Amino acid sequence: MATRKPAPPAFVCTECGWTTAKWVGRCGECQQWGTVSEQAAPTGFLRRMTPLAPHADRAARPITQITTEDAPRRTSGVGEFDRVLGGGIVPGAAILLSGEPGVGKSTLLLEVAAQSARAGRRVLYASAEESPAQVRLRAERTGALHDELYLASETDLATILGHIDEVRPQLVIVDSVQTVSSSLTDGAAGQPSQVREVAATLIRVAKERSLPIIIVGHVTKDGQVAGPRVLEHLVDVVCHFEGDRQTSLRFIRALKNRFGPTDEVGCFEMTGGGIAEVPDPSGLFLSQGATEPGTCVAIALEGKRALPVEVQALTIPSSAPNPRRVVHGLDASRVAMVLAILEKRASIKTSMLDVYVSTVGGVRFTEPAADLAIAIAVAGSVQLNSVPRTVAAVGELSLAGEIRPVTQAAQRRSEAARLGYEQVVDDRSKTLRAALNDVRARNTNRRPDGEIPPF
Ligand code: TYD
Ligand code: MG
Repeated sequence: MATRKPAPPAFVCTECGWTTAKWVGRCGECQQWGTVSEQAAPTGFLRRMTPLAPHADRAARPITQITTEDAPRRTSGVGEFDRVLGGGIVPGAAILLSGEPGVGKSTLLLEVAAQSARAGRRVLYASAEESPAQVRLRAERTGALHDELYLASETDLATILGHIDEVRPQLVIVDSVQTVSSSLTDGAAGQPSQVREVAATLIRVAKERSLPIIIVGHVTKDGQVAGPRVLEHLVDVVCHFEGDRQTSLRFIRALKNRFGPTDEVGCFEMTGGGIAEVPDPSGLFLSQGATEPGTCVAIALEGKRALPVEVQALTIPSSAPNPRRVVHGLDASRVAMVLAILEKRASIKTSMLDVYVSTVGGVRFTEPAADLAIAIAVAGSVQLNSVPRTVAAVGELSLAGEIRPVTQAAQRRSEAARLGYEQVVDDRSKTLRAALNDVRARNTNRRPDGEIPPF
């Protein structure tokens, strides 16, 4: 009689679900230490599962016979958030909103909750981080008080489910998944097994009741959602909220969206009275007033959105043996490369100068498309030559001093035209030297002696 071999032991990573036959200290997939543990061997019942005849309307069908009906969406009441979600909230959608503590997640979701309540759709806001009084104070300040907005300060998952049964909301917000725990799972709130259990239960409720649920998730310093990675696989939409503490500007991007595109960006501003949408952020990253030598506007791409961003450069004679290079908002290694190209290919020497290069408004602009604007700004500062307000520059520089085309050039050009830039200097100029001459030819800021300053 053949003897059945015992099933090999299986070890599973609690973070990402990776499996291995041998125990290892570090997960081979997500590279985390100490997350691999032995999984209970599957029971005979699981190993010898009998296939079931599927229900008639669940039968597998050829893809061509599958009818599509557009998932009906409801607006979240916040246009910029809708844009990121792909048009609105789909019933039964599980949405994860991630972001660093303090970036404004709770403020945004309170606004979404208030808008939903105003539209007559009851909302349950389960806050496990703040007391009802704290949330009410904030709601008073941001004008989010409404009778259809139900508030529960609760850290126990079962009680939150009880609230859902009682309140019968049409939208649930859980703030945050790391502070809620389930009594069915061991460990404290925030541990991977707890986070996974809480999220999985909420998602199941969302699907069973076609009830959209927005789950807040904190991220670790390196930008990952704290807790198990599987969370990102479980939910339908992952939105990431980002922003600099020094500025009031905030962006939300969709990192994953089962119902729409992932290249949309929502733009917000934190104000004293709550979070405000910024539907047209085109003026935010430009300086006001006359053009100074050493500035150049580029057209950056944030997701699908083209945004004008001003690059400013300041060069002064250096007194240090190693001249300073200070860069804000741009990629420092690209700036170093552009300085080398300027010196070698356009005879603009900066090796004895301290160079400061920055974007206006604290925006991060690290695309290669920034190269040309950096070069023109630095050249302008060295040669005291200003770029006319009607000129923008977009282009990547090659080490040979040629201008390379950038992604979505047509879109950037049309945004530049919409905003009144008459000329976009780009790869049509072929070389950096030609582009600098081109800008110089357009310069109407003559020096007192009537000369157009050279680049
Ligand atoms: P919050 O929504 O609590 O952040 P999160 O939930 O992501 O941790 O936002 C906290 C920050 O937002 C805090 O630093 C203060 C600021 N803020 C405003 O600027 N305006 C406002 O109206 C509110 C409520 C907060
Ligand atoms: Mg919060």
